[in-house]
Amino acid sequence: MKTYIVGNWKLNFTVGESSIYLHKLMKALPNYRDIEMVVAPSFLALQPLSLQIDRHKMKLASQNGFYRDYGAFTGEVSFSQLRGIVDYAIIGHSERRHILGEDDKMIAKKIAAAVRNRIRPILCVGETESERAFGETADVIRDQLLGGLSEIGDDDLDKVLIAYEPVWAISSTKAAKLASPEEISEVVKLIRETIHEVYGKKIAEEMPVLFGGSVKPSNAGSYLITEGVDGLLVGGASLILSEFVDIINTAKRVKA
Ligand code: PGA
Repeated sequence: MKTYIVGNWKLNFTVGESSIYLHKLMKALPNYRDIEMVVAPSFLALQPLSLQIDRHKMKLASQNGFYRDYGAFTGEVSFSQLRGIVDYAIIGHSERRHILGEDDKMIAKKIAAAVRNRIRPILCVGETESERAFGETADVIRDQLLGGLSEIGDDDLDKVLIAYEPVWAISSTKAAKLASPEEISEVVKLIRETIHEVYGKKIAEEMPVLFGGSVKPSNAGSYLITEGVDGLLVGGASLILSEFVDIINTAKRVKA
């Protein structure tokens, strides 16, 4: 299986800055066939960057998308508009769930809309600090996972990637803590068991599961060798050229 390294730029960089950063990033990295390198700039930068990017080397993801393809939905951007521009879409990120109020029902419709428009969804799941403290992690993960996948057919499951991002480990969170490889492998195991129960062994084994939450060059290696982890979703460190390049080179080294 390929290793996925996805850089989530969140609400950072102007269009000009995005373009310069992408230029430097592509120059700094060789073509790694077994590493799928993906960056997720703002909506505004996606179209110009799609003309600039060398898709043999790197791919684009959106950070969101709307579940209807067109119509009276002021301010939204549809996956039909993103079709051909991005290869991936981050869906259900915890910042969208907790700050923008997205629920599993809406996320499920977005996953279906991405797939319908030939865009591979990266479904983010993860518990908050208090959910973990109350012993609710397993229930939260199961609900987000099965809720998010509920609107697509079995034939489309092979297009989906999962990102496990414990909310308490995300760097922008107050007093973010680092997740330990043991904590991660326990939840990744639960994700695969849940998929196995509902959709069967093959899908469970083949679905890529990424980890995200304060990934840095210093911990990327230990996260990448954690059982069941097929890649990383990187926020803050993906905005610093040397760090993101280092993380990708680490992935190449440890997954070789
Ligand atoms: P972080 O963000 O790497 O800055 O913790 C990860 C994410 O929110 O996707």
